[in-house]
Amino acid sequence: MIAIKTQEEINILREGGKILASVLYQVVDKVRPGVATIELDELAEKLIKRAGGEPSFKNYKTVDDRIPYPASLCVSINDEIVHGIPSGRKLKEGDIIGLDLGMEYKNLFTDMAITVSVGNISDEAKKIIKTTKECLNDGIMVVKEGVRVGDIGFAIQRCAGKNGFNVVRELVGHGVGYKAHEEPEIPNFGRKGHGEVLKEGMVLALEPMLIAGKADIFLDKDFWTWKTKDGSLSAHFEHTIVVTKSGAEILTKI
Ligand code: MF3
Ligand code: CO
Repeated sequence: MIAIKTQEEINILREGGKILASVLYQVVDKVRPGVATIELDELAEKLIKRAGGEPSFKNYKTVDDRIPYPASLCVSINDEIVHGIPSGRKLKEGDIIGLDLGMEYKNLFTDMAITVSVGNISDEAKKIIKTTKECLNDGIMVVKEGVRVGDIGFAIQRCAGKNGFNVVRELVGHGVGYKAHEEPEIPNFGRKGHGEVLKEGMVLALEPMLIAGKADIFLDKDFWTWKTKDGSLSAHFEHTIVVTKSGAEILTKI
């Protein structure tokens, strides 16, 4: 069963989404060569707590992973796709970094990610960032009551394909709100007219992950960081949205 959130819950999610977006943009402001990724994590955690929230990724456990996620922020650099663990690693000019942050606020969860450049980056890096953002937008644009999960994936994959990028198939978007991850899964590929039917009040995290080279990925030996097998670049954007009768409202915006 896909949960339908009440108007009261959506109001809280909107408040939380606004805080989350503002925190993530403040973290983005600190991105520059020489900054260690752990510093970004510390800032994200401090700002979330100051706003009355809790970082929802910290100590997150998956069923098959015995190692809880150790940080508040995911920082994924270049060929790292998602779930990169913050560390003493310093950002370098030319890197692209995915910043993914989730928050529990008044018992409700929102989730957001963005990919940004560190100083000057290559044309290919610029293109994958721009395209991934567009694909997220294309996915959001098809959402309204009555459309199906496959329609979202179809739109995202079409956007990636026409720009010469592959989508990650093993990792997906998801329902969100009462927990960090809920039903349904929202793949970044799909068939029009297939999958669950969306209803007003469903809250979803759409999160296209694109790869510049081959679509093959692997899990690093830290048990969290997903990377491209061929070492090519990857980018990731994510918004939490609520389905309405006529469209979608983005909750993770300032
Ligand atoms: N936004 C990511 C996701 O939905 C972040 C998860 S990190 C984790 O998969 F620690 F919570 F797993
Ligand atoms: Co997510």
